[in-house]
Amino acid sequence: MDKIVIHGGARLTGELQVLGAKNAALPLQCAALLGDSPTTYRHVPRLSDVQTMNQLLVGLGCAVEGDRTLTIDPTGVQEGPKEAPYELVKTMRASVTVMGPLLGRHGFARVSLPGGCAIGARPIDQHLRGFEALGAKIRMSHGYVEVKARRLKGARINFDMVTVGGTQNVMMAAAMAKGTTVLENAAREPEVQELAIVLGKMGAKIAGAGSSTIEIEGVDDLQGIDHAILPDRIEAGTFAIAAAITGGDLLLLDAPSSHMHAVIAKLEEAGAECRVEPEGLRVIGPEELAPIDLVTRPHPGFPTDMQAQMMVLATLARGQSVITETIFENRFMHVPELCRLGADIHVNGNVAVIRGKARYTGSIVMATDLRASACLVLAGLVAEGKTEIRRVYHLDRGYETIEKRLRKVGAKIRRYHGAPS
Ligand code: EPZ
Repeated sequence: MDKIVIHGGARLTGELQVLGAKNAALPLQCAALLGDSPTTYRHVPRLSDVQTMNQLLVGLGCAVEGDRTLTIDPTGVQEGPKEAPYELVKTMRASVTVMGPLLGRHGFARVSLPGGCAIGARPIDQHLRGFEALGAKIRMSHGYVEVKARRLKGARINFDMVTVGGTQNVMMAAAMAKGTTVLENAAREPEVQELAIVLGKMGAKIAGAGSSTIEIEGVDDLQGIDHAILPDRIEAGTFAIAAAITGGDLLLLDAPSSHMHAVIAKLEEAGAECRVEPEGLRVIGPEELAPIDLVTRPHPGFPTDMQAQMMVLATLARGQSVITETIFENRFMHVPELCRLGADIHVNGNVAVIRGKARYTGSIVMATDLRASACLVLAGLVAEGKTEIRRVYHLDRGYETIEKRLRKVGAKIRRYHGAPS
């Protein structure tokens, strides 16, 4: 197992290219299943989650080629098993997003029920409620859920809570239903909008993506397309914090600033300078950081996927910050590790009270999930001495060769292969 070692204290300066978005790539890979011909995606990030999804698609009968430019040919799925096996779903919950397109195009899908994960229970009841409203029969047995329908029929679906995956999955099923579907209390995330753009290019009729009401008029057929994936707002936000906490000056090339208003607002509140420039977003760190209070919310609120990274910044500010996590019930796993490095954080339920200003000293820490591992990398960048991060496979799920890219802008960071876990 790999580990990452950081010697902290360097001021980060220069340019960093923001790559394609993981949370757009995964549902888009699934959307290719809806086409009657191959789909090609560009700017695809080289991540283990993208590989896992490719594996799943091949298991369904797709032909998959390339990586940065990825071509998915779904024509072999008709004869395939239409099943997402336990072994893949347990490594990546996003595997359940094949259900909507398989149901929409082939009228059947069998998917292993995802168990809980480090950050929460994460049930899929809203996905299934949506499919049922479209007329699908749902059957659970042996840890799998089967959804079946001769032809889905349009319906009005009001989600009990805002769910990104539920909105995407049901939107893909409804794209080939008979009649019109209206999704209410839908997720407004940029990755939902991106999926609607791709489905529209494939021939779907979708209006209102980006708002909380999405209308989908079903069509009989969809075609393969060619599409460049949007840049990753969470990766860009992570690098923006790296600039802010190291007193650095980074130009984040192609950063999707229009999708990052909540994060930029908090960075400016903390004293960082954020400038939208023609090539991207420039972030300049202040002499001293100011405390911030934040509550995670669905988009356009503050993204839960930036909570852990922003907590590092809060620990370095003079004064007290309060962070409230409202999306996932167990997303403070990084707190004990930050405290091991020297932070002063008290958690009570879904509220973390942070007393700055921490003086981090390097130590061995354990990554527990994707964004927690990114937050440990950030803490390592400012810690005195050596920080060793173990279980970095979590990091590779969402950040492509992060150590090489940070090294380019001055970080003293290295990866070691085959280290003890
Ligand atoms: C997506 O997960 C992202 N993953 C997550 O990013 C992100 O944290 C999350 O949206 C929220 O923004 C991908 O896009 C692959 P949800 P998703 O359905 O779709 C509850 C990362 O770090 N819920 O919006 O699984 C659920 O338990 C990952 O990149 C139900 O109760 O999230 C959660 O509390 C982590 N029933 C809340 O809703 C359902 O049927 C939001 O979940 C569905 C969801």
